Amino acid sequence: MTVLASALDTGGPEHLAHRAAMLEKLGALDAEHAKALAGGGEKYTARHRARGKLLARERIELLVDPDSPFLELSPLAAWGSSYPVGASLVTGIGVVEGVECLITANDPTVRGGASNPWTLKKALRANEIAYANRLPVISLVESGGADLPSQKEIFIPGGALFRDLTRLSAAGIPTVAVVFGNSTAGGAYVPGMSDHTVMIEDRSKVFLGGPPLVKMATGEESDDESLGGAAMHARVSGLADHYAVDEADAIRQARRIVARLNHRKAHPDPDPVTVEPPKYDAEELLGIVPGDLKTPFDPREVIARLVDGSDFDEFKPLYGSSLATGWARLHGYPVGILANAQGVLFSAESQKAAQFIQLANQRDIPLLFLHNTTGYMVGREYEQGGIIKHGAMMINAVSNSKVPHLSVLMGASYGAGHYGMCGRAYDPRFLFAWPSAKSAVMGPQQLAGVLSIVARASAAAKGQPYDDEADAGLRAMVEAQIESESLPAFLSGLLYDDGVIDPRDTRTVLGLCLSAIHTAPVEGARGGFGVFRM
Ligand code: COA
Repeated sequence: MTVLASALDTGGPEHLAHRAAMLEKLGALDAEHAKALAGGGEKYTARHRARGKLLARERIELLVDPDSPFLELSPLAAWGSSYPVGASLVTGIGVVEGVECLITANDPTVRGGASNPWTLKKALRANEIAYANRLPVISLVESGGADLPSQKEIFIPGGALFRDLTRLSAAGIPTVAVVFGNSTAGGAYVPGMSDHTVMIEDRSKVFLGGPPLVKMATGEESDDESLGGAAMHARVSGLADHYAVDEADAIRQARRIVARLNHRKAHPDPDPVTVEPPKYDAEELLGIVPGDLKTPFDPREVIARLVDGSDFDEFKPLYGSSLATGWARLHGYPVGILANAQGVLFSAESQKAAQFIQLANQRDIPLLFLHNTTGYMVGREYEQGGIIKHGAMMINAVSNSKVPHLSVLMGASYGAGHYGMCGRAYDPRFLFAWPSAKSAVMGPQQLAGVLSIVARASAAAKGQPYDDEADAGLRAMVEAQIESESLPAFLSGLLYDDGVIDPRDTRTVLGLCLSAIHTAPVEGARGGFGVFRM
């Protein structure tokens, strides 16, 4: 019997308390997501509408197939910065004429859709996803180009946007640009570098320099239309492949372009009829992670609510039991799962992980990492037992693994454990966090405690007295700072994940990601790992 049993007491006080804590966090998160949806706010939205234009998300909604899901990515980008939440760009994966595409749309209600440093990071992340998964890119363009006050942060690295578009094209990944309004200067290279372009009568303005700049540069008198209007580009310059009469017509034409791409997935979709849902209710995922992450929880309770039929063939269940590893299917796709069970990673867990990752590579099976780790074990016994070389083995395996990786931060994700479990720097194809997640170099209390010990020793070395009262104040301040910097909205704002998701949506989100991933061939590494220290 490989169907997971559940020991969850869903009516018990613990479950209800965990659920209440999670719902509170989800409520707070909704308020942050609402900021992204509000874009530039009422005034600019009303002005945009009065001009007869659709909002960024409305354009996307018309572009994707009716009733199909749109997996929005990085919605909290720029959270905690001086720029509006969402970074004036919407990105995500949607299905157009049956083809999964990476869609980006400037939000012209936010500072004219101009790109700030977070817009750039978000756009580059979207390109990365398109490239790794071979997803056609559709850019819905309407932007004032570089956010001029922050130009020094975006001008030089921003060149990568044009480079990415042509590299996607060179790799046979189609790129389509639909220009709804301004696409000036650097923005002009989005249609310029794309395989297919659509422009709209009296709306698209695509030029390297607008009339004022031309006047300054050469003294020439000109106007928007003759410099970069859709009619000019369709009839004269040839930059527009398709001439649309309005926004709806442009979207219709973009859908026809995608329908004719002949873009085929490397792997056929699993037959949905054969996909068995989990045996337990996803609603129960709200009550598994304790409010206090120091309390351990069994990740098999999570796995049982994510995978097909709650069916999980555990690998080495009796060995390295602080990490659960095993095989399952998720929406019909095979996955190997690594899930932290007791928080700490010891030598046995690290070796087990390294072996498991190699097996997944031999079998071409994508890996799912479910994080709840405080890191690798410290202490004399463990150092002498070789925890560094065993942790290095796991990090070697995850770094050189070639199968697609998915990471979900459920709880703690601290220290090098975050790396071994395929944290952001290890290029998981997608990484999502639950509202309960926390990630930092170590826990806030530990970090504040380490700082205090170091300060005390430093004072002693100088023969100075140590102020215990000031120490308590410093510890509390550092703890609060690290706590706030470890929270999911903060990390999502920095683009360290692809979004903070409701635990109940995890199976759906991972299913959409696995489907997108299988557009590209799934091929594991056969060898090619670094030297494993034994
Ligand atoms: N950088 C920083 N802020 C910008 C910006 C840019 N590139 N483009 C627009 N904004 C700001 C405006 O200052 C304005 O701010 P405010 O409302 O606080 O005064 C807000 O965004 C809206 O701009 P507005 O001009 O009122 O909107 P619009 O829809 O009528 O026109 C543009 C939008 C993009 C056509 C117009 O703003 C424009 O031409 N911008 C400059 C384009 C450019 O030359 N960019 C350089 C590219 S490298």
